[in-house]
Amino acid sequence: MTRHLLDIASLSVHELRHILDLSVSQTTIAEKPLADKGVALIFEKPSNRTRHSMEMAVVALGGHPVYTRGEEVGFDVRESVEDIARIMAGYHAVLAARVFSHSVVERMAAVSSVPVVNMLSDMSHPLQALADIITMEEHCGPISSLTVAWIGDYNNVARSLGEAVCKLGGNFTLGCPEGYNASPDEIARLQEFGGSVRQSVDPKEAVAGAHVVHTDTWISMGQEEESAARRVIFAPYCVDAALMQNADANAKFMHCMPAHRGEEVSAEVFDGASSLVIQQGHHRLTAARGALAWVMGK
Ligand code: CP
Ligand code: NVA
Repeated sequence: MTRHLLDIASLSVHELRHILDLSVSQTTIAEKPLADKGVALIFEKPSNRTRHSMEMAVVALGGHPVYTRGEEVGFDVRESVEDIARIMAGYHAVLAARVFSHSVVERMAAVSSVPVVNMLSDMSHPLQALADIITMEEHCGPISSLTVAWIGDYNNVARSLGEAVCKLGGNFTLGCPEGYNASPDEIARLQEFGGSVRQSVDPKEAVAGAHVVHTDTWISMGQEEESAARRVIFAPYCVDAALMQNADANAKFMHCMPAHRGEEVSAEVFDGASSLVIQQGHHRLTAARGALAWVMGK
């Protein structure tokens, strides 16, 4: 069966752990599962980390990446998502896409004869969550022993992180404003994966005892028109040194980046000794190798 990677939720705990193991192992590089094969990397939105880590992961596994801007293929404009996917599947071993609507990667996966990888949608960012888990386990210990706090907008990155932390038996706490938090149904969905989930509108309460504090931009790509309103609503959710004081004494800070110093995080925290943001960004390459090796059947 074709292995797509559209979100963390649809992976079993065994599959999730296997992808993490493949990521940190060097054997996937030696085995070159993409030898003489192409990988399509289609981006409807800008990217630094995802594009570069995926391109270099494809090369490490022996393949050839073909970067394509979304408007060049024109999902449902130049031709249908299904026609694009079916044709590209004849050239490439993997189709990877960064899209506005999650339904686009679902539609690709529904018709593609080769694996489809989600490189960020409005719903999820599985490659980021894999890198986040690898980074936390390297620096803080097994996820099952950790309390992982998310502060700010309950967005695509938060959802994938929560799915991964819960599946691996960790404690996930959310500190988000009303209207930008997880619904009761969403909390219940995460809770079913395992671990524990706690939510508060008070960021201090959310970080209490946390071993890792994560945040992300208040304005995701595509939400630019809401910028002014969001800056007001999220102002009390800046992760600064005072907020970090409420976390565990050795708490680490993480951010998927791009970051906005003085908005969702203070420069002092982002650039401080407890920040893992650069290691986290570099582990996007580690995770990309594991994800590609897994969809190739490893
Ligand atoms: N974190 C992340 O996905 O970064 P890019 O948008 O630069 O790819
Ligand atoms: N939540 C952000 C993540 C960027 C990597 C966005 O969707 O723009």
